[in-house]
Amino acid sequence: MSTVAPETARTDAQDGDVLVDVRGLKVHFPIKRGIIFDRTVGYVYAVDGMDLQIRRGETYGLVGESGCGKSTFGRALLQLEELTDGEVHFDGVDLSSLKGEELRLQRRHMQMVFQDPMGSLDPRQTVEQLLLEGMRAHGLTKTQDARQRLVDLLKAVGLPRNALNKYPHEFSGGQRQRIGIARALAVDPQLIVADEPVSALDVSVQAQVINLLEDLQEQFGLTYLVIAHDLAVVRHMSDRIGVMYLGSLVEESHADELYAEPLHPYTRALMSAVPVPDPVVEDSREQILLPGDLPSPANPPSGCRFHTRCPWRQETLCDTERPQLRTLDLPEVTAGHRVACHWAEQIASGEIQRHEVSAVATERTPTGSADGSSLFGPQSEIEAE
Ligand SMILES: Nc1ncnc2c1ncn2[C@@H]1O[C@H](COP(=O)(O)OP(=O)(O)OP(=O)(O)O)[C@@H](O)[C@H]1O
Ligand SMILES: [Mg+2]
Repeated sequence: MSTVAPETARTDAQDGDVLVDVRGLKVHFPIKRGIIFDRTVGYVYAVDGMDLQIRRGETYGLVGESGCGKSTFGRALLQLEELTDGEVHFDGVDLSSLKGEELRLQRRHMQMVFQDPMGSLDPRQTVEQLLLEGMRAHGLTKTQDARQRLVDLLKAVGLPRNALNKYPHEFSGGQRQRIGIARALAVDPQLIVADEPVSALDVSVQAQVINLLEDLQEQFGLTYLVIAHDLAVVRHMSDRIGVMYLGSLVEESHADELYAEPLHPYTRALMSAVPVPDPVVEDSREQILLPGDLPSPANPPSGCRFHTRCPWRQETLCDTERPQLRTLDLPEVTAGHRVACHWAEQIASGEIQRHEVSAVATERTPTGSADGSSLFGPQSEIEAE
């Protein structure tokens, strides 16, 4: 099932600092055809080789365009999707080897917060029932202080005590997200995967929820994987950031270094599209506009997945060989900064110059972002070149 060398995976998982260790993770969804959908005619390569580690207590931000596989990765990490290949080690335990009750017990340590709090909360259940559900499943209601725990949870997420008897529709969007967070916290997890936790909320409420997540992290010693297409959210929250493109990481670094020194052509394009508050800097910056859309994950390009849109593409290596995520031997780049580009050093030194990208035919991805936006802003801006 796995192509991962067991020795390597074990060594890293034993590192006390690493809480989550993902190796060679793949999730391919079969595309079925036929009257009873009995023929597999292809696959959506939603996650296609993800390697990353999340350290205890840190916030790891995962960014990428709509449809690049972020949510599928988050779900696969929690074993909510069947893995096509690869391994997920949580706190040294290989989750892929667990089944049934053993897996259920491990799940308590990993919870998810969703983008749409209304869609993820059962409208027929009161807040009390919603919170008790998870606690009951893990035997946390047997103790006498379960009631006190509910009160403490509400306090922790900034909801009034009388919220317990109310239903989700009686709350505002921001409050509902607080309920979603309380529900995740109720089982005392170590890791929270927050998939676009604020993108469905009003801008005025977003900062409050981000601040709450940060406070809770400190209070409960939580580890976060925050998935977002909004670079501002991720930058604000994350210690480290991974940039995803068509199912795998193209770059990973400490948050500050990623913004100061983006090395992968895709990350450079993302960063060049982020507005800078200083108008002088803003005017002097060069925007890198990428041609075309994200290719379909059902038919990804050969070689480097990004070569069809890359302004630094070199023939023919980029078209034929898929680059590995690797560290660079450059003085200004720290050891934890990894890039999947054959030419990262030459691009950084200016030896390889950016060129016009001819319109390479790319198939439009069947997905759209839930809120219609992309990392680049309006689609027309990307296609302007
Ligand atoms: N259950 C499924 N069956 C088939 N294809 C799927 C399934 N779930 C996701 N996909 C496809 O996998 C690809 C990755 O989807 P995913 O939802 O992980 O992307 P994402 O990066 O989270 O996008 P967004 O920013 O829009 O949330 C998409 O092409 C999507 O259509
Ligand atoms: Mg998603």
